[in-house]
Amino acid sequence: MPVTMDTLVSLSKRRGFIFQSSEIYGGTGSCWDYGPLGVELKHNIKRIWWRDYIQRRPDMVGLDASILMHPTVWKASGHVDNFTDPMVDCLECRHRFRADKVDEMPWVHYCAATKGNKFTIPAGEPCSHCGERRTLCPDCGKGALTAPRQFNLMFKTFMGPVEEDAALTYLRPETAQGIFVNFDNVAQAMRRKLPFGIGQIGKAFRNEITPGNFIFRTREFEQMEIEYFVNPRDTVEGKPADEYWHERWIADSLAWFQRYGLRAENLRLREHEKDELAHYAKRTADIEYRFPIGWSELMGIANRTDFDLKQHAKFSGKALTYFDEERKEHVVPYVIEPSAGVDRALLAFLADAYQEEEVRGERRVVLRFHPELAPVKVAVLPLLKKRDDIVRTAHAVRDTLARHWSVVYDDTAAIGRLYRRQDEVGTPYCVTVDVQTVGDSDKGESADGKVTIRDRDSMEQARVPIDALPAVFLDLLDGGAWSAVASKYPAVAKV
Ligand code: GAP
Repeated sequence: MPVTMDTLVSLSKRRGFIFQSSEIYGGTGSCWDYGPLGVELKHNIKRIWWRDYIQRRPDMVGLDASILMHPTVWKASGHVDNFTDPMVDCLECRHRFRADKVDEMPWVHYCAATKGNKFTIPAGEPCSHCGERRTLCPDCGKGALTAPRQFNLMFKTFMGPVEEDAALTYLRPETAQGIFVNFDNVAQAMRRKLPFGIGQIGKAFRNEITPGNFIFRTREFEQMEIEYFVNPRDTVEGKPADEYWHERWIADSLAWFQRYGLRAENLRLREHEKDELAHYAKRTADIEYRFPIGWSELMGIANRTDFDLKQHAKFSGKALTYFDEERKEHVVPYVIEPSAGVDRALLAFLADAYQEEEVRGERRVVLRFHPELAPVKVAVLPLLKKRDDIVRTAHAVRDTLARHWSVVYDDTAAIGRLYRRQDEVGTPYCVTVDVQTVGDSDKGESADGKVTIRDRDSMEQARVPIDALPAVFLDLLDGGAWSAVASKYPAVAKV
């Protein structure tokens, strides 16, 4: 059965992935804090994205532009005039809704046919008693809604000590513009030839009218964006270069999410209709994921043409062109933009990894994270915490492995319980130090210097010498199969 959002919210809080922001003050609407395991997971997503797209590709470089930018950037980009949603307000409870989404919500109704009884009616349906459809506020069921008004989604702020119009600027609503305004700096400094891309990871802010669904839509979030510049006069494999690269980036992006664990049946592509295309886009395809709330956008891959570079050239008076050596002329590059949300990617990886199963009559919750994503790679567990030599050895093993990976030590419960806890946070491997590892002089048993490694997914166990652990985990955490360990080292009964 697919996991529900409530299950993910509850697991996230209980196991230290994600907490409501400012919870002790009653929470801040749609803001979330990443706890100790959440921040590791988020870092891992950003790290593999940066490694795969920026460091490993010869045609890519990175950037970290500032969040606060010159206010004219947002005039030039079209955000001041176009980055709006139509919204309506309830005249009674003052709640605000997106005009185009108001019929997609369940609605409160005081039904005249049942002496004014209150009902909550599913989205889009009429009242089954009186047949009325929603006309009033869906939240309070009493207030009339205003006519739609355009509402700009950018957060305003003031630069400097005086709060006046001249000091007005915005928190960036996308990281992309920081890349466009640096196009020439990067191209010159790095001596780049087309096609090449600039990637950036950073916070973006949108005063969303209807945020919600946990970290799916928030007002502060992180983006991983690439602006890939191509020469629009070139052709590749018989296609205009921008169209060729657009297809390539769509395919690469889908493959990337699958490589790190999202199941193919939970991913699909959706082409934007002509009337929903952003003001800058020639074509946009969304990668959608089957979130617990249904199919929704995970990332967008847009062909932004030369819109942004031309706009910034016009507003700044600086040429943002590329000299085409072959044709001996200046061109304004076209831009392909694969743009993903870090938080949405995290939600998708979390939802896809979540599984419940029955093991020997007991429920096991397991997050089957790809090892690269798992917040903790190895947990080192002592079988008996009263035995100093076992505890000491376990700490020493932890310290050795922690030089390479994120590793924890835990002795706060019995071993079966400790395994289940690690399953629930997605730790791929556990190491158990027991009496045989250190020996028992009272019984005349000598130490074997070996530990038990347990594989999260199969729950199989193998007995491995302590000295071999770094090499074994180097292989396993680099994508090596458990079967190689199982065939090399003796098996131990499953727990
Ligand atoms: N530069 C293009 C751009 O910003 P977008 O489709 O508005 O395009 C790109 O945003 C991605 O950023 C989305 O696919 C989504 O993953 C993420 N995103 C956008 N708004 C978000 C929000 N309010 N909360 C969380 N993630 C968001």
